[in-house]
Amino acid sequence: MSVSVTVVGNINIDFVMEADRMPRPGETLRASKLRMVPGGKGANQAVAAARLGAEVTLIGRVGADVFGQPLLQSFAREHVNSDFVRRDEQAATGAAFITLTPDGQNSILSALGANLNCSEEQVEEASEVIENTDILMLQLGIPPVAVDRSIQIAVDRNVPILLDPSPLGEELPQLWRHADIMIPNETEVGDLTGTQVSDIPSALTAAIELASHAATMAVITLGAQGCLIADTKGARLIRGYPVQAVDTTAAGDAFAGALAVRIAEGASANEAAVFANAAGALAATVVGAQPSLPRRQSVERFLEQRGGLERANIEEL
Ligand code: RIB
Repeated sequence: MSVSVTVVGNINIDFVMEADRMPRPGETLRASKLRMVPGGKGANQAVAAARLGAEVTLIGRVGADVFGQPLLQSFAREHVNSDFVRRDEQAATGAAFITLTPDGQNSILSALGANLNCSEEQVEEASEVIENTDILMLQLGIPPVAVDRSIQIAVDRNVPILLDPSPLGEELPQLWRHADIMIPNETEVGDLTGTQVSDIPSALTAAIELASHAATMAVITLGAQGCLIADTKGARLIRGYPVQAVDTTAAGDAFAGALAVRIAEGASANEAAVFANAAGALAATVVGAQPSLPRRQSVERFLEQRGGLERANIEEL
């Protein structure tokens, strides 16, 4: 039976422009290609989980503009329940302008638009769904009060919470320490713990700090290097899979969705992280946020070809 995943988070339309290099300040540079694709961290993680076999409900907000309706239609195609995605008459659909260069680097400028109107009341309307889900996924692309309300509802019913603290702004949700699993990258874990993270030893220190004062399980995402886990069993580095990366946009979202699905399915932290590393690696091989999110079969085949969990590179720290 499928596990249920609920995501409260931001929804964007992504404008992806491919260029030979990033534009310099004051420069107008011609892009070779423009793609408009569904994106936004919350929506990406919802679609990632759905493609990996979960029953997913997304709570969020789009504008009542030309982008809102197609995004809702895309959720229907992805079998993501969007009954709790509101159409906002006052604000535009969130958008991200992504510049992508041939080396796979990207730079993202995003305007959160309608996502910023996602309110406590809107979360409250979906409280029954949150209370009955196997895992709740949160990020920080919506107002902290909406994240706080989601955390409170989940905590009251012992629903496990996975928090991706991104984009990390000035104001954190007050209840962020109640998340069971946190998946910051190196910069974010540095900011959250007040430490300077520049290598594996410093990431380890920050992860242990995070796991002792906040989440039960801290998973530091290290991009192509994989991830570092600190939990009650200790700490280990789970190496990522080398791939020909063309665009890393949403690779972290593929990782998050995969980790959540496998944890909800009862997999061990190591097993879930290996699966998540594979999903993230596959996402980096395709251009665009949601177009790149892999399906369950692809992740399983990819892992099988690399010897599965037995051959995964796991280093106790
Ligand atoms: O995590 C990737 C996402 O970040 C993109 O889809 C873009 O919308 C930005 O929010």
